[in-house]
Amino acid sequence: MKKLTILAAVFAALALSAGNASAADAAKGKKVYNKCKACHALKAGKNKVGPTLHGVFGRKAAAVPGFKYSKAMKASGVTWDEESLRAYLKKPRKFIKGTRMAFAGIKKKKQMDNLIAYLKEATK
Ligand code: HEC
Repeated sequence: MKKLTILAAVFAALALSAGNASAADAAKGKKVYNKCKACHALKAGKNKVGPTLHGVFGRKAAAVPGFKYSKAMKASGVTWDEESLRAYLKKPRKFIKGTRMAFAGIKKKKQMDNLIAYLKEATK
C-alpha cells in the first residue's frame, strides 16, 4: 500500500514536469523576438523595414496602411492566426513565394512555441 502511494506520487510529479516542459514560455519568446526586432516594431503605426506587428492576430496580410508590401504578400489572401504565423515564420519564402521578408525562418518547434506565446501578449 505504501509503495503504491509513493509510486503514485512519482507519477504525478513526472506528469507535472512533463507538462511544464511542453508549455510555451512567453519570457523566452521575447528573446526569440530579438530576431525580428531589427525589422518589426510592436507599436501601432510604427513601420520599419517590415510592417508593425501590432494587432497582427486576426489581421489580413498586407493590411498595414502606408507599408509597401510585395505583390506576393498582397495576393496571398492569408489572415494571420496562430496556424498561418507558424507556417510563415517557419519558412517565409515557402509559405508566401516571393515575400520580401528576408528571414530564413525558425526551425526549432520550442522556439516557435515560445515566440507565438510572446507575440500573443506583445502584439495586443
Ligand atoms: C530583415 C527584416 C525582417 C526580419 C528579420 C523579419 N521580418 Fe517580418 N517582414 C519583413 C518585411 C519586409 C515584411 C513584408 C513582406 C512582404 O511584403 O512580402 C515582413 C512581413 C511580416 C509579416 C506579415 C505582416 C503583414 O502585415 O501582413 C509578419 C507577421 C512578420 N513579418 C513577422 C515576423 C516575425 C515574427 C519575425 C521574427 C521571427 C520577422 N517577421 C522577421 C521584414 C522582416
